Amino acid sequence: MARRVAVLISGGGSNLQALIDATARPGAGTAIALVISNRPDVYGLTRARDAGIPALVVEHGPSLARPAFEARLTAALETAGIELVCLAGFMRILTAGFVERWRDRLLNIHPSLLPAFPGLHTHARALAAGVLAHGCTVHLVRPELDDGPILVQGLVPVLPGDDESTLAARVLEVEHRCYPLALELLASGRLIVAGDRVAGHEHRLLLHPMFAAG
Ligand code: GRF
Repeated sequence: MARRVAVLISGGGSNLQALIDATARPGAGTAIALVISNRPDVYGLTRARDAGIPALVVEHGPSLARPAFEARLTAALETAGIELVCLAGFMRILTAGFVERWRDRLLNIHPSLLPAFPGLHTHARALAAGVLAHGCTVHLVRPELDDGPILVQGLVPVLPGDDESTLAARVLEVEHRCYPLALELLASGRLIVAGDRVAGHEHRLLLHPMFAAG
C-alpha cells in the first residue's frame, strides 16, 4: 500500500503540484494524503482541493505560539496516519522537538546546491557570487536551518544575462523533478540514511536539459 505523505506549504505550491502529479501515477509508492498551509488563501490550497486531497490551514501568530502551532500540526498528521512529511515552500522554522519527532521522515527542498547559500534570497546570492552552476537540494531536515543529509540535487547552469527571476525559473524546473524522485527513493527504502550521509542509490543528481547541449 502507498505510504501516506503530508505536504506543508506557505504559498503557490508548484512543488506540491509536482508531488501530486508524480504520486498519482499508477504504481507510485507514496500518496499525498494531507496538505497543510500556515497561510490562508494561498494557491497551493486550491491545488490540493482540485486534486481531492484534504487541505487544512493551521495559522500561528500572537494568538498561537510555536508549541501550540506544532501541537496542532502533529495532531493533524497523526490523525491522518501520515508517515512522511514534505516541506515545500513552508516558510516557518520548526522547533528541534518537532524535527526530532519526524527524524529521517521529514524532507525539505531548498533552492540552492547546499551547503552553498542556505537561508533566503539564494538566487540573488548565487548571481552576486558569480557561480556558474546553481540548483536545488532535497534533504532530510535537521534542527539547524537548511542542513541535513542530502537526498537528491538538481543542477542548472547560470547563464550570462540571468537575473533573479530567470534563474529561479530554471531552478524550479529541476525542483519539480527532484522532489518526486527524492520522495520515491526514500519511501521505497532505496536510500539508506547513515548519520549525516545518504547512500544506496547512484542516480541522485539531476541535470537541467541545457547541460545536454554541452
Ligand atoms: C521553492 O523554490 C522551494 O525551493 C522554496 O520555496 C519555493 C516554493 O515554491 N523552498 P512553490 O510554492 O513550491 O511553488
